[in-house]
Amino acid sequence: MKIFAITLTSLFVCGLLTSQASFAQTSKKDRCATMPMYEKHLQLKWRTKKLGSFEDWMARKIRERQFQRTTETIYEIPVVVHVVHSGDELGRGSNISYEQVLSQMIVLNQDFRRTNPDTTGTPSVFASIAADTKILFKLAVLDTTGQLLKEQGVHRYVDASRETWSMSEIETVLKPATIWDPNKYLNIWVVPFSNSNTLGYAQFPEQSGLQGITIDPNTDKPETDGVVINNKFFGSNFTSVGAGFSLAANFDRGRTATHEVGHWLGLRHIWGDGGCGQDDFCDDTPAAGRDNDGLGDCSFPGPNSCTGDPFDDMFQNYMDYTNDICMNLFTNDQKARMRTVLENSPRRKEVIANANVVLSTNQSQVLANTTRLFPNPGGSNSQLQINNELQGKIIVTITDLRGVILQKSTTTKLNTQLQLDLPIQNLPKGVYVVNVQMKQGNISKRLIKK
Ligand code: ARG
Ligand code: ZN
Ligand code: CA
Repeated sequence: MKIFAITLTSLFVCGLLTSQASFAQTSKKDRCATMPMYEKHLQLKWRTKKLGSFEDWMARKIRERQFQRTTETIYEIPVVVHVVHSGDELGRGSNISYEQVLSQMIVLNQDFRRTNPDTTGTPSVFASIAADTKILFKLAVLDTTGQLLKEQGVHRYVDASRETWSMSEIETVLKPATIWDPNKYLNIWVVPFSNSNTLGYAQFPEQSGLQGITIDPNTDKPETDGVVINNKFFGSNFTSVGAGFSLAANFDRGRTATHEVGHWLGLRHIWGDGGCGQDDFCDDTPAAGRDNDGLGDCSFPGPNSCTGDPFDDMFQNYMDYTNDICMNLFTNDQKARMRTVLENSPRRKEVIANANVVLSTNQSQVLANTTRLFPNPGGSNSQLQINNELQGKIIVTITDLRGVILQKSTTTKLNTQLQLDLPIQNLPKGVYVVNVQMKQGNISKRLIKK
């Protein structure tokens, strides 16, 4: 039997619905119909806590929840998908198409923002604790060197010597060779697994302060951080992008990535990987004594693996082992765990803090990232070095600190690399500003002449 403790339930949702005019009457009625049952459930939980009067406790929880709703920021996570193959043509075999990647991103965002089209499959008894996690995933715009990616968020990686990969090869060879800075990106490797029974796996976050997560410092290292998914389980045949991707039956709706990213953000399996006494450290999920592996009949109630808990198994939860078609929710407490990880865990918190850098579509940012003055400070030999894919006319001016133009030259950049000698030999020692202008953007850098 699960330990009862503080949780948020339909009472809050009902309260909030009345202040949200946009909600349809029917949905309001529907959700609130579950209230008496949840109130009972709550009172039971409250009694074990002995925290003063039930009404006071409730009122406080409602205030907290309302405060949370207005202050909660949406966390954005830049994603790089490493598409690993052995030389397949683009869009064939393991070299999956860009559309397949897009279909997965659509599902990930729908599931985490609770805009998935199958929320209607959430039983009404659970509807009030189903969460919009306010976590968003975005395909990275810039690569690790600050260049614009040709395919947003995608890094295609060929190893002609391997058709398939084992888990230990992925951990010791693939990941360290291909990982992008885990302080800036969520790394997702999409790989042809040698063991076709493995759908995917993830590395847990460290130092989150959450219960129920143990890290092995020998294997859970920064250079292996991320999520790995077998390409037969990555993407969906049920989004606006279209169908026809080569996906395994029952796992063709993108829920493997939702589940794995849940782990990456600190979620345990909903049955706590053990019997009814073993918890997932979320108070709003019913106790579960086992997984519901392969469950494809989504009618509710289904299994009730712990009769000591009044609730039937929440097999619709993304953290169960149910078939994709039956999965449709995270709960409020799962959301709280994931947001706690994003706020506290090394690398996770950097990823959200750095998001605007690798998501920038501004070409001036690309120009800034890929331009350097060298040597700087320099004598008469300083050069302007540009290394990016931008092409076209370039105007370089050198000004003093007040903006008075001292030198100006115009050239055309046709290749990736451009090197220009900076004509500073006749200028006195001091600080200057080098401006680089292209039609795509412009930047300024300081140059010191010594
Ligand atoms: N077995 C995998 C894991 O434990 C993922 C299960 C995902 N389930 C699904 N219906 N896609 O991490
Ligand atoms: Zn799992
Ligand atoms: Ca359990």
